[in-house]
Amino acid sequence: MKLWGGRFTKEENELVNHFNASISFDQRFYRQDIRGSIAHVTMLAKQKILTDEEKAQIVEGLERILSDVENGLLSIDPAAEDIHSFVEATLIDRIGDVGKKLHTGRSRNDQVALDMKLYVRDEIGELDLLVKELLQAILKIMEENLTTYMPGFTHLQKAQPVTIAHHFGAYFEMFLRDRSRLFDIRKRMNTCPLGAGALAGTTYPLDREYTAALLDFDCATRNSMDSVSDRDYLIELASAMATVMMHLSRFSEEIILWNSNEYQFVELDDAYSTGSSIMPQKKNPDIAELVRGKTGRVYGALTSILTTMKGIPLAYNKDMQEDKEMIFDAIDTTKGCLGLFTGMISTMKFHKDIMKKSAVKGFTNATDAADYLVNHGIPFRDAHGIVGRLVLYCLDKGISLDDMSLEEYKAISPVFEKDIYDAISLKTCVDKRTTLGAPGPSVMEQVIKSYQKMLTEN
Ligand code: ARG
Repeated sequence: MKLWGGRFTKEENELVNHFNASISFDQRFYRQDIRGSIAHVTMLAKQKILTDEEKAQIVEGLERILSDVENGLLSIDPAAEDIHSFVEATLIDRIGDVGKKLHTGRSRNDQVALDMKLYVRDEIGELDLLVKELLQAILKIMEENLTTYMPGFTHLQKAQPVTIAHHFGAYFEMFLRDRSRLFDIRKRMNTCPLGAGALAGTTYPLDREYTAALLDFDCATRNSMDSVSDRDYLIELASAMATVMMHLSRFSEEIILWNSNEYQFVELDDAYSTGSSIMPQKKNPDIAELVRGKTGRVYGALTSILTTMKGIPLAYNKDMQEDKEMIFDAIDTTKGCLGLFTGMISTMKFHKDIMKKSAVKGFTNATDAADYLVNHGIPFRDAHGIVGRLVLYCLDKGISLDDMSLEEYKAISPVFEKDIYDAISLKTCVDKRTTLGAPGPSVMEQVIKSYQKMLTEN
């Protein structure tokens, strides 16, 4: 049954119906649709637009539809146009004429704007929880690896030694920002569009603030045209999810490298790896690769919704129906990736000895050798040149700075003394970096304490 059949005379066209319908995807917010309707009729009764008796009948009918769908006693009709039509038609079917009063002072335009907001608001909560669980997993690894050395890279070339705690701390910061973005979006979007009608409000004496409060919104929206055509919060959410995925993808890329035979920094648990159908020796990091790959889908959702919205005149236009599938897919994808990624890093083993060996190799202590000279009165630029010559000498002999004899050091600069070996040891290189944000364990410990506090408070 169509909600709008009255004005039409011609037969329906199946292709058109199929093209126009949204039931296949908007049925996922049947709970939100029913919740919104219950709030709406509650307000209508308070305003004496409906009687208390009518309200009671409608609310009871709606609650029964909800529990019947939940219990599998009522299946959502795939031939319905959308979830709004399905719920209303079922209600009328079950409780008769009084059900026809449900849609008083409401349009599907403000109804769908509400449903989507309610749905997305719940999903933001779930996304936030998943990011928090990932942060907890990262923090645990940090706590356990304050002094586990590894090379830090720039240009994917070994640069200076760091620790696992420090490297993972960088990701902690990224996902922390992701949480704060989700928090901001939730706060900004939390206004109730119901009562905006099709675009220009209604002539009924609705109490919009009352409906808003019933649905846990901070307040009602202030402009009815904007209320039915605002999809900014979906764009913001798609952008926040794209950023989460970008972070997960970078992290995945590193794990794929670290898990390779060339690096051997980590080993993924069997449960998070797959084999090859032809090469028996293989254990592939498919989960990390899929997370990296699925990032494209979420970027796609952002581009898609931005593009859909860019040419739409005020107020509601059917183009907006296209917001759902892509946002739902982006939410499902991001949630799935977050959960799996947390499991993957929580079960991953670190080959700490290999990481440490790698941190020693590749002249990661060259900067510290130059700093040693600076501490002995040599200007930094000259010190840089001297150490450059040391490196050249080592490369020629196939040794590292730690392997050079004091005589060899002195031949290049007489300033070097025996204490150079301690000054460029891996431990010194890391321990001495104690400015805020650096890998030195003493300062890292302070930072970890602040992270622990953040996660217990919120
Ligand atoms: N399925 C529609 C959507 O998702 C619901 C709103 C329909 N409104 C209308 N005027 N046809 O946008």
